[in-house]
Amino acid sequence: MTGNHYLACINCGMRYCPEEILYTCRRCGDLLSVEYQESQIPSDLGEIWRNRYLSVWRYRELLPVREGTEIVTLGEGGTNLNRCLKLSEMFGLEEIYVKNEGENPTGSFKDRGMTVGVTKALELGMRTVACASTGNTSASLAAYAAKAGLGCLVLIPSGKVAFGKLVQAIVHGAKVLQVQGNFDAALSIIRHLCTKHRIYLLNSINPYRLEGQKTIAYEIRDQLGCAPDKVIVPVGNAGNISAIWKGFRELERLNLIEDLPQMIGIQAEGAAPIANSLRNGLSSVRPVERPETVATAIRIGSPVNWKKAVRAVNESGGLVETVSDQEILEAQRLLASHEGLFVEPASAASIAGLRKLVDMQRICHDEKIVCIATGHGLKDPDIVLRQFPKPVEVEADLESIEKVLGMSDEAIMHAAQEQLAS
Ligand SMILES: Cc1ncc(COP(=O)(O)O)c(C=O)c1O
Ligand SMILES: [Zn+2]
Repeated sequence: MTGNHYLACINCGMRYCPEEILYTCRRCGDLLSVEYQESQIPSDLGEIWRNRYLSVWRYRELLPVREGTEIVTLGEGGTNLNRCLKLSEMFGLEEIYVKNEGENPTGSFKDRGMTVGVTKALELGMRTVACASTGNTSASLAAYAAKAGLGCLVLIPSGKVAFGKLVQAIVHGAKVLQVQGNFDAALSIIRHLCTKHRIYLLNSINPYRLEGQKTIAYEIRDQLGCAPDKVIVPVGNAGNISAIWKGFRELERLNLIEDLPQMIGIQAEGAAPIANSLRNGLSSVRPVERPETVATAIRIGSPVNWKKAVRAVNESGGLVETVSDQEILEAQRLLASHEGLFVEPASAASIAGLRKLVDMQRICHDEKIVCIATGHGLKDPDIVLRQFPKPVEVEADLESIEKVLGMSDEAIMHAAQEQLAS
C-alpha cells in the first residue's frame, strides 16, 4: 500500500490500494471505508490543527489525498455552531446547537465531500464525474467540477428536485438529465454507466466523499471543546450520519475526545426504510418502494449506506426516528422565526426530530444536543411561500401604508380614546 491510507471492506476486511477505482468490495460486494496507516498519523494532531483556521482542510492529515496533490476547494467547512437559546427554552433543554451547513459554498454539507471527492477524481486521472441526486449533490458536484475543469453528468428524479438546486447544477455547466423515476432508480443507472464508461461516481457510496463529510464531527469537537451527548442528523442515503460517526470514532481513537456521542437519525415518515426496519427488528433494511415527503432531499427509499448507518446507530446507542411532513415544516418555521436560521425542509427534520424525542422523554434536560442543519432554505423557497399568505399590496404613499399598519392619525386617536375610557 502507498500513501497514508487504503480502502477496506466493512464486511470481509479485504484491503485495496487507494489508486483503484472501486466503490464496493470485489470479493463480497459490501461497502468500502477509507482507513489510515496509524504509523503515519502525527502524534500531536490536536496541536497542528489548532494553528489552522476552521475548515475541511484544517484536518488534512486525516484526509485521503497524496502529498503535493492540488486541492480543489471553494472554501468549504468552518460553518457556525449556533447556540439556540430560544429553542432551548421552548423545549426545556439547556444546550441546543445547530450546525449550519447551509453556510457552505453551494449551500449544503455536500461541499465537504465534494472538495475531497473531486480532488480525488483529478488524482486518479478521471476526466468526467457524475452522480444521481435529489438536488444538493448535483449542485455541489457541478460547482466543484467546474472549478476543476472536469465534465459533469447528473441524473435527477423528474419533477422532484427543488428549483434552487436545479438552477445551481445548470448554471455550473453540468449535463443534467431528468429521469422518469425516483432517486433510487437514477442511482442504479448511474452506477452502471460510470463503470461502463470510466466516469468517476461521486454519490455517497464513494468512500472518499464521506471522508470530507466526517469533518463535521471534527469541527463540532473543536467548537464545543468536547463531543456532544447527542448528534441529530436527517437521513436519506445515510452517508452523512455514517461519515459523522466515523469522524467521532477517529477522534476517540486518537484521544482527542473522551466520550462518544449518540447518533440519532431522522427520516421522513413517507421515506423511512431504516427507521421502519429497525422498529421491526429486521437484520437488513427493506426498501420503501415509493418514497414520498415534502423534504425532497431525503426522499430516498433504498439507502445505499444503510449498513454503515445502522452500525453507527447501534454502536453509539442511538436510534432512528421518523417525523411527519407537517412536523418538518413547523420546525422549519420555528427555526427561521425564533433563531434566524433558514434551512431547507430536510434539514428541519433534525429539529422536528429533537422536538419529538423531547415529547417522548428520550432526552435529558442537561444534555448537549447538536442538530445538523444540512442545507440552506433558499434552495426550496416554493415550499415556504405556499404556506404563507401573499404580502398585502399597498399604494406607494405614506398614508396608505399607515392605514394598513393601523398607524393612521384616526387609528392612533381612537386607541388613545379607548385607553382613556378604560
Ligand atoms: C439537505 C439534505 N439533508 C440531508 C440529506 C441526507 O443525507 P444522506 O443522503 O447522506 O443521508 C441530503 C442528501 O441529499 C440533503 O441534501
Ligand atoms: Zn468484502
